[in-house]
Amino acid sequence: MRVVRSAPELQLTGVVGLVPTMGAFHAGHVALFRAARAENDVVVASLFVNPAQFEEQSDLAAYPRDEARDLEVAERAGVDVVFAPPAEEIYPPGFATWIEVEETGAEGAARPGHFRGVATVCVKLFNLVRPARAYFGQKDAQQAVVVRRAVRDLGIGVEVRVQPTVRDADGLALSSRNARLSPEERERALGLPRALQSAVGAEDPVAAARAAMNGLSPEYVELLELGGATVLAAAVRVGSTRLIDNVIVKGELS
Ligand code: PAJ
Repeated sequence: MRVVRSAPELQLTGVVGLVPTMGAFHAGHVALFRAARAENDVVVASLFVNPAQFEEQSDLAAYPRDEARDLEVAERAGVDVVFAPPAEEIYPPGFATWIEVEETGAEGAARPGHFRGVATVCVKLFNLVRPARAYFGQKDAQQAVVVRRAVRDLGIGVEVRVQPTVRDADGLALSSRNARLSPEERERALGLPRALQSAVGAEDPVAAARAAMNGLSPEYVELLELGGATVLAAAVRVGSTRLIDNVIVKGELS
């Protein structure tokens, strides 16, 4: 596995699969690496904690970073190249061009500027890495919707593949933020996947999920269209930790 810090060093040949990440790898990331491994000649994982998608500087500073461990995990999962650029490689001095997707749902409304940062870094990574396919997790369903929209609207020749959410045995979706939960908070957080799951098959899934939230007060509960699937998505705060999750209520991911 090669670790590359600048775009000219990428030097890729063959069909490339890209997995954009911010590091702190867990089994959700590994599932994306393996999906890319199965479908492409070359697997590139980008590792870049993208300042533009954080609203709070404190959140950016607190983001978990352990590159040495991440490189080991990536290598074991069959990644060929880790692209881990410094910030100036992505945002050179005078950077002034942004990708603004104008429909970003309740998640976008809750995090002003977030998806502008996400869409911009993803398009930049697509241009630098030139993948045939790029891999995203269903866990961040609105993110996948936004990236697909940008790719479609701008005619970018990348196939956006979305992979199912990986969960812990108790049902909590894996997230680097889970490490911030105390044992008591983690128990309460389980109310989120349980409420969403209990609403599958209900006539009004949004109302059913809200009614099943068990003391958690959701920031939003909404339905999204993601490829061929209708997804029931919600965000909650447990203590100071914000968690998002979703389940498919109709159709299948495509
Ligand atoms: P990050 O949070 O590192 O996530 C990288 C990819 O892993 C995303 O596509 C995310 O949806 C996926 N992922 C996270 N948790 C998952 C889980 N439990 N199951 C399946 N997939 C999961 O998302 C980002 O980084 C950034 O916004 C990025 C796209 C890299 C742009 O900076």
